Amino acid sequence: MMRSKIKNILVETASKKFGLKQVPDFSVEIPENSAHGDYAANIALVLARQLKKNPLDIARILDMELEAWSLKHGLKTEIVPPGFINFFLNSKILGETLKDILKKKNKFGRGQPQQGTIVIEYSSPNIAKPLGIHHLRTTVIGQALVNTLRFVGWKVVSLSFPGDWGTQFGNLIAGYKRWGKPEKIKQNPIKELLKLYVMFSQAAQGHPEMTAEGRREFKKLEEGDKENLRLWKWFARESYKDFNKVYKILGVKIEHTIGESFYEPELKKLVDDAIKKGLAQKGADGSVVIPLKDSPTPEIIRKSDGATIYTTRELAAIRHRFKKWRADKILYVAANQQTFHLEQVFKSAVALGLAKRAQLGHVKFGMVLAPGGKKFATREGNLIPMEDVLKEAEERAKKIVEGLNPKLSQKEKNKIAHTVGIGAIKFFDLSQNRLSDIVFDWNKMLNLKGASAPYIQYSYARLKSIIRKSKGPFTQFKSELLKENAEIALIKHLTHFPEIVADSAQKYEPNKLAEYLLRLAEKVNTLYEKVPILSAEKEIKNSRLALINAAALIIKNGLGLLGIEASERM
Ligand code: ARG
Repeated sequence: MMRSKIKNILVETASKKFGLKQVPDFSVEIPENSAHGDYAANIALVLARQLKKNPLDIARILDMELEAWSLKHGLKTEIVPPGFINFFLNSKILGETLKDILKKKNKFGRGQPQQGTIVIEYSSPNIAKPLGIHHLRTTVIGQALVNTLRFVGWKVVSLSFPGDWGTQFGNLIAGYKRWGKPEKIKQNPIKELLKLYVMFSQAAQGHPEMTAEGRREFKKLEEGDKENLRLWKWFARESYKDFNKVYKILGVKIEHTIGESFYEPELKKLVDDAIKKGLAQKGADGSVVIPLKDSPTPEIIRKSDGATIYTTRELAAIRHRFKKWRADKILYVAANQQTFHLEQVFKSAVALGLAKRAQLGHVKFGMVLAPGGKKFATREGNLIPMEDVLKEAEERAKKIVEGLNPKLSQKEKNKIAHTVGIGAIKFFDLSQNRLSDIVFDWNKMLNLKGASAPYIQYSYARLKSIIRKSKGPFTQFKSELLKENAEIALIKHLTHFPEIVADSAQKYEPNKLAEYLLRLAEKVNTLYEKVPILSAEKEIKNSRLALINAAALIIKNGLGLLGIEASERM
């Protein structure tokens, strides 16, 4: 990648020229406006502070020293006050990149296989409930991270950690035993189970004997009672069927699903061992805690009645994941609200010697709010099934497809509506700052002319339509014929793809890639408006066809990394 080449040569040159053992950190940016360079380095400004010299002088010295190197790498440089060194890609190197894209296709920009393995935990819904809209972000962001980190060279294990254990399942079983009808559950499993659970929990309010009943059923489940185990397994099976249905609509593929219950058998020993080693302490009431130095509270890992809790399962999961996959790192794609809990878990894991702190990362995100900024819930305050929202997206997208292309067959329209509707929702999520709350806005996410997936998908379909109409060839170009501003701007943007994907992956910020793709679609559309393609003279036409072919490849691959499909027609 050119950006890292530039960075490396600057470090090397600076350390040689100024006799530095360690060159201070500086940036090589990709300016928004390429009039300010295709890359802009602030090294001279950073060095000036340290060496107490004039930044412009330092820039000039470095630039002179780099002259031969720059020439060789197809770069022209320019020094601008107060001391930036800007680099411009010449047409020869741009032509080489274009050739490279056409040759490598969807492998263009792929990173070298790195040594490490990252486990990414995401989605992790709770069983016996529908997969709710509040699980959208973890699922969509998680999948985008899996795809991009893999692409840049990490070995990635994708994993869901469903909530399938705990006292709530005692309530569910108790509710089922009181009112449940197997036939009804078979017809509509998840809805019925949720109903039974809510009914029981509500009825138990102010009725301690019912609360005790729920607890008793869970205890029986923990002890392996045949009937309770059968019910729990049945409910879990139905839940996974339901989750998988939604994942299929979303196009999400999670390799491993290991729920909380998996860890139940090892928890007692985990806690006992921690006590034995003096890492956990037993309190007067019999509960067990891990004292944490840099935290306001110790973390409880066993209740006074002997029951284990969520954190204990989290700790067992950490141990298991490092062992099973020899992971270097575990990332948790989980809401902002989980910060305190996960911090406590991470600190406890460090205290028990299960991990180093830097090996555990919380990739946080804001809430998804309903249109108008309210909480996403039904009027009764219940959660909204994700499937319902996805269906609505497809229906709304169908109207767009009808408008654009009324002559397509029903089947084709449905297929495109699916691609556009689901793409719209995903892109709406991924294109925004991960940490902010996002407010659902159908018009924005489906705006064909706005910052949306349909806008990018439509640009792609337009390119594909030109490609279909022409007979090719699609890979023969002469770079000296691609000299219009719109053409150069587009090739330069394509050149940056590997750098943007690398950034996006490394910082866990899919919005970087999403923004890149929006800019790419804009540049494609400008080209489309500014230069004729099919009617151009033969050699020019071929060169432009090669260029749009490359642009189409990158759009498709870029969207794919975000987990979004592109349709050949729209
Ligand atoms: N099951 C939890 C929920 O649905 C999310 C779990 C997040 N992951 C974790 N390791 N705590 O809210």
